[in-house]
Parts: sequence; structure tokens; C-alpha cells
Amino acid sequence: MKIAIVNGSARKGNTNTAINALVSGMAGKHEVDIIEADKLNISGCKGCGVCQCHKGCVAKDDTNATVDRLVNADMIVFATPVYWWGMTAQLKLVIDKCYCKGMQLKGKKAGLITIGGAPTDNVQYELISKQFECMADYLGWDVMFDVAFSANGTGDLAGNTEALSKLENAGKSL
Ligand SMILES: Cc1cc2nc3c(=O)[nH]c(=O)nc-3n(C[C@H](O)[C@H](O)[C@H](O)COP(=O)(O)O)c2cc1C
Repeated sequence: MKIAIVNGSARKGNTNTAINALVSGMAGKHEVDIIEADKLNISGCKGCGVCQCHKGCVAKDDTNATVDRLVNADMIVFATPVYWWGMTAQLKLVIDKCYCKGMQLKGKKAGLITIGGAPTDNVQYELISKQFECMADYLGWDVMFDVAFSANGTGDLAGNTEALSKLENAGKSL
């Protein structure tokens, strides 16, 4: 499979560690495209609707090239830190722009990795997971995994062997 992983974190921290563990579990079986949302220049969706009768978004930034990377993937993974009980703004900018090619994003496999400083029984993980589930239902995605971990300092997840093996196993199962 071609697997696009959107990293919603700006730092080389826990989300990056989680992505590396997932990819290492895949053991080279898949073609992986890591999209660093923070490094992109993507404006907020203005809801102009032009994309609905046009080939893509009218914004002259990284939007169309990024959405095309998702369209070209068989599987899309969103990996995000929790910011204020939700996903990061960087990831949300990418997701909002999926509107311009929504129908071409149907029927994919999908996965979600969420990492926050709070314990995993905090409602924030359920909120992010529900939002992802709604997107997945709307686009007919087959959800392969939806995992959440608690880690705060940049190196915290790297010391959580249980989390790392769960992520490697998620990668192995694909
Ligand atoms: C602006 C900001 C908002 C945050 N909000 C939350 C939050 O609502 N809940 C939480 O558990 N952690 C919150 N955190 C902590 C991060 O989710 C946590 O440090 C996470 O491990 C960061 O992932 P990263 O290392 O991949 O960047 C916040 C951090 C920042 C910088």
C-alpha cells in the first residue's frame, strides 16, 4: 500500500516517535509518505466553494499538492498531539482542505494516533476519536487502528515500551 501519514506536531517529539514506531512495524512492506503539516504553507479554508466546480483549491499555496498526496494514498494516518482538547491547528488545516477533493478521498484505509500530556481516560481522546470516526464514516474509510497515548515531554513516549510495541504491532498488522 501507499500510506500517507500526516504529522500534526511541529517538534521532534512524541508524535514523531510514534510515527517511527508505526513505520518500523511495517518493516518496509509499504510505501510511506510522511506529510509534515507544520512545514507546509496551507491557508485556512475560506468556504468559497469554488473547488466544487473546479479542479481543486484556488489557494496558491501547498494545498493542492498536499491533498493530492492524500488522494494518491491507499491509507491515510493522522498523528497528532492534543492541543486544547483537540487535534493541532496544523493538522486541521490539512483536513479542512480535504473538502476540495472529498469524493476522491473515499474508500481508503485510515488510522489515528493521538498523544497528549493527560492520562488516556481524559475526555480529549474520545473527542478527537469521535471526530475522526465521523470523518471516516462520511468518507467510507476502513479504520485499521485508533490509538491514544499519554506523553508530555519530548522524550516521554520513547520510554514507554508498551506504547511502542502497540504502535509497531499496528504497523505490522497492515
Ligand atoms: C499549545 C499546547 C496545548 C496543549 N494542550 C493539551 C491538552 O489540551 N491536553 C493534553 O493532554 N496535553 C496538551 N498539550 C501537551 C501535548 O499534547 C503533549 O506535550 C504532547 O506530547 C506533544 O506531542 P509532540 O511531542 O509530538 O509535539 C498541549 C501542548 C501545547 C504546546
